Amino acid sequence: MQGNDIVTIQPAKNIAGSLRVPGDKSISHRYAMLGAIAEGRTRLTNFSTGADCASTLACVRTLGCEVTHRGGVVEIEGRGLYLEEPSSVLDCGNSGSTMRMLSGILAGQKFPSELIGDESLSRRPMRRVIAPLTSMGAKIDSQNGLPPLRITGGELKAIEYQLPVPSAQVKSAVLLAGLYAPGETVVVEPVRTRDHTEIALRAFGAEVTRGGNRISIRGGQTLRGIDAEVPGDISSAAFFLCAAALFPKSNLVIDGLGMNPTRAVLLDVLTSMGAKTKVLKLEEHHGELIGLIGMESSNLKGTTISGATTAAVIDEVPVLAAIAPFTHDGVVIKDAGELRVKESDRLAAIAKNLRAMGAQVEEHEDGLSIPGGQTLHGAEIDSHGDHRIAMAFAVAGLRASGETRIHGASSARISFPEFFHLFQQLSSD
Ligand code: S3P
Repeated sequence: MQGNDIVTIQPAKNIAGSLRVPGDKSISHRYAMLGAIAEGRTRLTNFSTGADCASTLACVRTLGCEVTHRGGVVEIEGRGLYLEEPSSVLDCGNSGSTMRMLSGILAGQKFPSELIGDESLSRRPMRRVIAPLTSMGAKIDSQNGLPPLRITGGELKAIEYQLPVPSAQVKSAVLLAGLYAPGETVVVEPVRTRDHTEIALRAFGAEVTRGGNRISIRGGQTLRGIDAEVPGDISSAAFFLCAAALFPKSNLVIDGLGMNPTRAVLLDVLTSMGAKTKVLKLEEHHGELIGLIGMESSNLKGTTISGATTAAVIDEVPVLAAIAPFTHDGVVIKDAGELRVKESDRLAAIAKNLRAMGAQVEEHEDGLSIPGGQTLHGAEIDSHGDHRIAMAFAVAGLRASGETRIHGASSARISFPEFFHLFQQLSSD
């Protein structure tokens, strides 16, 4: 039932069936950006259907690349490292990944450019990319560290940079800028973050080396276009995996799923809570793992998520928090301060919506404590325009008594436009 941007969720008894989820958002962004600065054509199948990746494609077009996008297939005519001066601003929409990673490429261009975003993106911190790119030699004007960003690129110099926050977007911005800097640019990451940029750069023919937590790239390397299938997005699959884990008769199979070890930590977390996941098939495509996985229901215990694990499941915390009250022992989430600067303040949005459903929850500066064994009732949910909050609370609504109404449900289009349709297909009462 959909109308007025509100979707109503009815309680269900299980989640069963098989599905494929759209292409991974993180990988789609990277393939599109690298396709633009590669030589020759890049052809991508199962490209993300989310609005965020459409923003990246629009930016790439504005930077002079010919792009076609039909039914999940994207073709990009690469221009080589140096793009065309844009005749308008580059609109990143809601996408922090687009703004931060593209900044790395724009820092190396010989023309000025301006990046803007929607209201939510305009509140998100950009100093984290401004600082390293400025020390490489770019000039970047911002609104006190917030978008819009005006980037005057040019001659860059290689740096060694230790990430002050665990952020794959910042790591990627520096590595991409490193392509334009003579010598070797090194990023040191004290906490491991998703490594799609390193893997994608290698797939496009660049040499990127990793020794311990140091990643190095040499400037001036030529990239070559690729033909690739984008693996299914495990952060989108997470809503179905967590929903399936909640019911005693669930049985879910997901094919074509991205299983990169820096992303599949969610499966370890669910397994440690007692879920039964099985990897039925695993293949490698351009350095990324793609698998067929099965999930059966289980009685979920609780868990504590902290440190490097929190960083690895940062996008899945909303849905893990949404199922937490239904677990036996509850879920404690620590070291998750980064969630306050995502598309919304996710810690606040989770706490507020769980309380609206009658749950007990403690909100801390950088985490949440959610006791288990609770009974929730349906409620009016405020997504705060945040796709992951909207989808996470649809999952909570399945186990609540009565109806749950998700306001701002259309925000799911940012990463997973098909979500509510698939969700209704796979849940049954
Ligand atoms: C992403 C990295 C993460 C994640 C975001 C996508 C990426 O952000 O939350 O959804 O594609 O590199 P940070 O790099 O800010 O941690």
